[in-house]
Amino acid sequence: MDILLDTCGRRRVKSLLMMYLFVVNAAAECPKPHEWENMVLTNEALLLNEFPEGSEVTVECGNGYIKESGTGIVNCINGNWNNPDLNCKKTDCGHPKPQPNMSFNTSGGTLFGAVIKVFCDKGYQLSGSSYKRCYATGWFGRSNCKIVTCAKPGEIDNGRNNWVSEDRPKYGEIIQYVCNDGYSRVGTDKIACNEIGQYDFPPPECKSGRVILTAEDKATTTSVTPTTSFQDGHDEIVDINKNNGHIILAVTLAFIFVLVGLGLILYRFLLKRKGSYDTREDLKPELLQFQNL
Ligand SMILES: *[C@@H]1O[C@H](CO)[C@@H](O)[C@H](O)[C@H]1NC(C)=O
Repeated sequence: MDILLDTCGRRRVKSLLMMYLFVVNAAAECPKPHEWENMVLTNEALLLNEFPEGSEVTVECGNGYIKESGTGIVNCINGNWNNPDLNCKKTDCGHPKPQPNMSFNTSGGTLFGAVIKVFCDKGYQLSGSSYKRCYATGWFGRSNCKIVTCAKPGEIDNGRNNWVSEDRPKYGEIIQYVCNDGYSRVGTDKIACNEIGQYDFPPPECKSGRVILTAEDKATTTSVTPTTSFQDGHDEIVDINKNNGHIILAVTLAFIFVLVGLGLILYRFLLKRKGSYDTREDLKPELLQFQNL
């Protein structure tokens, strides 16, 4: 019986040992390494097919990220990969290269993945992309700021403008109109190309009117024309006339004051000459009695 048991026991131990070895052998192999956030396997690691217990692979920072610290070595321990000691941070595209008449809103940062808005200065128009995106290779998105232009200035009857160029006038440029001899201008003589590509005023008209004006008419028209025939936008001319009105009023008032002042001085002078009793006491009622005596 003892011998029998012994053989039975040995067999059991043997099979247990076999099972143990099998389990350990199975655990001694790591799975194909997965990838960790913002990290990728090195090419060498990608070429490996077997990952026995104790083996190591190296990971590096992924696209758009750079190493901040660590080695990137990952070990197969007890059939599992430990976590890499690598720290990766986003690359920084920095401030975009300055371009003429262009600005950027970088309040959202300039790190990998950031999107910034592109602006043009007043009077400049954006062409291309209105945003730039930070990629691993740098900013992506082409934009340009081109100066706004206006249509070539219109021709007018009985007058001309000073625009001789074949090009379109640009933002801020001013075109001047003059009327031919014998014609008077109605409207502004200067028109400017504004930031939205339009002129601030319509071109003036040249009317045959001056010839019939007499000297007297001229005197009146200088003050009347701005309010009647000039359209809005000619505040300056209207203002000047308003100011003239004020000046006339002020001068008249000053004249009146001077006259009144002179009158008073004259009056007091005459009173003094009349007698020496100009002490103003004559106005007091109790003294009036004595005066009447
Ligand atoms: C820039 O963008 C931020 C949002 O990212 C916004 O709050 C801010 O008003 C913008 N600034 C300008 C000047 O447009």
